[in-house]
Parts: sequence; C-alpha cells; structure tokens
Amino acid sequence: MSEIKSNDVSLPLAQVETPLLAIALTQGSAPPASLADLDRAAGGVVARAIKSGDFKGKRDETALLYPGSAKPERLLLVGMGKGGEVTRNTIRRAAAVAAKRARAIGSRQLAFAVAAEARNGVSARDLGQVVVEGAAQGAWTFTEMKAAPPPDEAKPEVESITVVSDAKEAKDVASGRRIGDAIAAGHRLTRYLQMLPGNVCTPTYLADHAKQLADQYGFALTVLDRAQIAREGMGALLAVAQGSTQEPRFIVLEYRGAGDAAPVVLVGKGVTFDSGGISIKPAQNMEDMKFDMSGAAAVLGTFDVLGRLKPKANVVGIIPSTENLPSGTAVKPGDVVKSHLGKTIEIINTDAEGRLILCDALSYLRRYKPAAVIDIATLTGAVVVALGQHAIGAMGTDEGLLAEVRDAGERAGERCWPLPLWDDYRDMLKSDTADVKNSGGRGAGSITGGWFLREFVEGYPWVHLDIAGTAYTDGEGPHQVKGPTGIGVRLFSELVLKRAGA
Ligand code: BES
Ligand code: MN
Ligand code: ZN
Repeated sequence: MSEIKSNDVSLPLAQVETPLLAIALTQGSAPPASLADLDRAAGGVVARAIKSGDFKGKRDETALLYPGSAKPERLLLVGMGKGGEVTRNTIRRAAAVAAKRARAIGSRQLAFAVAAEARNGVSARDLGQVVVEGAAQGAWTFTEMKAAPPPDEAKPEVESITVVSDAKEAKDVASGRRIGDAIAAGHRLTRYLQMLPGNVCTPTYLADHAKQLADQYGFALTVLDRAQIAREGMGALLAVAQGSTQEPRFIVLEYRGAGDAAPVVLVGKGVTFDSGGISIKPAQNMEDMKFDMSGAAAVLGTFDVLGRLKPKANVVGIIPSTENLPSGTAVKPGDVVKSHLGKTIEIINTDAEGRLILCDALSYLRRYKPAAVIDIATLTGAVVVALGQHAIGAMGTDEGLLAEVRDAGERAGERCWPLPLWDDYRDMLKSDTADVKNSGGRGAGSITGGWFLREFVEGYPWVHLDIAGTAYTDGEGPHQVKGPTGIGVRLFSELVLKRAGA
C-alpha cells in the first residue's frame, strides 16, 4: 500500500467536494448547530439520522448518509462518545474508523471534519496531526504478497485525507499535518516490517532496511555479524543465535540532530521468528511469532520519522536480531553463557530469549553515555494476561523517565501501565550455577522479565516496554485492521519531539 497524501481545506462543509465527508460527533439527541447549513443543503438527512435515534454518537458508531444537493457525495457520521471526554486520541480513533469505512466503500478520497461543538479544546495543530495518523492507521492494508484481485472485486485504496477546518486554523492544521504525515509513514513502515514473514524478514533483512534508512536520511550505521558479535563478547545474543543457520545481526543507527547532547537510546527486540528453541512452543498460533521483531520494527519506524522531521535531538537505535530455533547446535536448558556485561546466565528456558538478546544490548550501549534508554519488546505472554491488548507494560529504574514515557504514550494513544520492579521479585531469578537465570517460573512473568533486564542496566535512566499484548491483534476492530499495530512509533515520536521542543 502506498502512502496516504494529506491536505486541508477551509470551506463550509456543504461546499467540500469529495466522495466521502466524515464528520465526527459526540453523543446527543439533537443535531449540532454547526451542521445546520450542511444539513439544509443535504435535505435534512443529518437531523433525521440523529432525531430518529438511528445515530446516537456513541464511540465507533457510524451512519452513512446520502445528502440531497450538498457537494459531498456521501456523509459518514462518526461517533466519539461523551462530549466532555474528547481528546486527541478520540479524534484519531474516529479518523481511523472513517478511513476503514472509506476503504470498505472503495473511496479513494476521504475528507474529515470534527463538529465544532465536539472539539473539546483540541488544538488545530493536534487536529491536523491526529486526523492524518488515524486515517493512515484505519486505511492500512497489506497486499504485497498476494496476486491482484480480479477487476470486479478490486477495491481501490484510500489515497488522500483532507482535513476540513476554519480558515483561521488552516496554518496550524497544516503544521500538525506535517508531523502526522511523518509519523504515519514511520508507522506504516513498522507495520509492513512486522507483517513480513520470517522467511523474508530475517536479521539480515532488518539490517538491510536499516542501511536503506541510513542511506536515505544520512544516519550513521553499524552492523555487527556473527563473528563480530562474538568478538564483542555478546554471549547471550550469540547463544540464542546458535540454533539457526540464519546469521544474527546487531544493528546500531545514530541520528544526530542536537550536536553533542547525550542521546536517547531506543532498543528494539528483533527476534524475526521465535519458535521457543529447544523449549519449543505449541504449534497453535506459532505463526504469530513472526511478530517477535515488533520492537525492532518500532525502532526502525521511529528512525523513518526522525529522518523526515529532523528534530533537534540525538537518538541511537539498537536492534539485536536473531531467529530462535531448535537444532543440533541450539542452546539447551541448563546451559550457562556469559553476557556482554560479564554476568553469567543460566538458561532455564530457551523460550525466554528476548531478555537474552536485549541484555547484551543494554550493556553495549553504555558507550553512548545515554540521557535515557527505553527498550521495547514483545517480551512476555504474561503481559497479555495482565493487561490484555490495551496497554503496554512499563517498568524502569527512573520515575521521571517512566512518567515521561507514560505521558508520551497518552498523547500517542499508546498507553503504558506500570508494573513494580520491587526488590522482592529479584530472588526469583537466583540461579544455583550462574549469576542469574533467565526465567523466574510461573508468577509475575512480566516483572521477572523486567528484573532480568534490570540486572544489566548500569549508569543510565531506563524504562522497559513490554508490547507482547499490543504489537498485533488477532481480530478486526472498528478502528483497527487485524494484524500488526505498529505500536511504539507514535509513543517514541511524541517523546523525542517533546524533548526537542518541537
Ligand atoms: N516472544 C515471546 C513472548 C510473546 C508471547 C510475545 C505471546 C507475543 C505473544 C517470548 O520470547 C517468550 O516466549 N516469553 C516466554 C517467557 C517465559 C519462558 C519465561 C513466555 O512469555 O512464555
Ligand atoms: Mn520466546
Ligand atoms: Zn520471543
């Protein structure tokens, strides 16, 4: 799927020439006054839909209307729920619902307006940004690996999103769109990489893609192969990689937009397929483990955003990448390996591989003297049990950074919820033979995963994001396409842009 182009217009709604005009509304039994002119031109269809009770304005509710003589060919009312509760996230979601509908109808273009009464103080700039983000999210498709459908079944893709606003807001809407365009593009790259199967998206493929970004935007790039990873002493990453004939890669991207300032370092888990290794997973849904590189994809998507927006910030992206497979050379339960930091690890469960590859990255990155380190990983099934699909599990060593990350997640519509890294949990990782073991048993699986990583954090503020529950969905939602969510890109973008004062 190609990128959605965004633009904006400042016209009365009845004058917007478009195959589909979506209007976001809040709950209520009376048509908003701001739609009176449109509805007059439309022959009263909006008032009828609302007064009849057919459209109540509940969240994700839609009504498709055919206006009499107004310029838009179709109107799509989109509900945003309660009036006082509208935020950027509500509007982004409404735009996603509208775009999904546009895609289903086969409309190449979508115009989107928020009824004036429903805005709830969301700024014009935020409006421009989140409408573009939401539309791109909802219109997303992955058709790259399928034959083209026969012409009578082909649905065109949504090619453009037009944000409708007042003339006095147009400038701010356009500046928001510029940010939204970049974030949407990064988000799209992330979802594309996530979606690619394990036989295509290998560690080498991820490294090649990092190279493409580096060439395109002028990032510095370092890629270590198996021999160089061994020379660096990354015994934990190497142990995971030893079961596969696919070469592992350790990828480092550096974006410099703020001179010598200490960088934010983003670390993404890049397991391009996680079979569990010798501690092999059940066959059911194992194909979803192609998504085990979602953290890596989020880091690459964020670098796409950085390349487009060039904020005044320094960011380093680190991706340890490997497959996790069983074989005659694979690491075994009980094996002890030496990490990059020097601590020895008893590998109790070869399926707890994410923490092994991340721990070597966490000590390697000290050379960048980071201002902050955030890792993002599909780390534990336990976080799905704890928080489901609606929140990232967040843990860390620095309350300030944790608050900053959660705040960015709130603005991004990628919410994080904290889990405690109390000392009490640390004992669960004590090993009889090594400094630490890689699995803490049944209870508190996400926390012991976090605690394992913490054992390798030295000298910088750190937050760990467990996205195992949020990286992909196994069903459609009104605002969500089944499959990869691209989670992390918007959160990281918000965080870096705020730090850069942009
Ligand atoms: N990649 C998985 C975690 C995962 C589970 C991601 C479900 C997405 C959906 C991870 O490598 C893993 O297997 N974790 C184990 C850890 C355990 C062995 C300590 C788990 O969660 O079972
Ligand atoms: Mn695993
Ligand atoms: Zn994994």
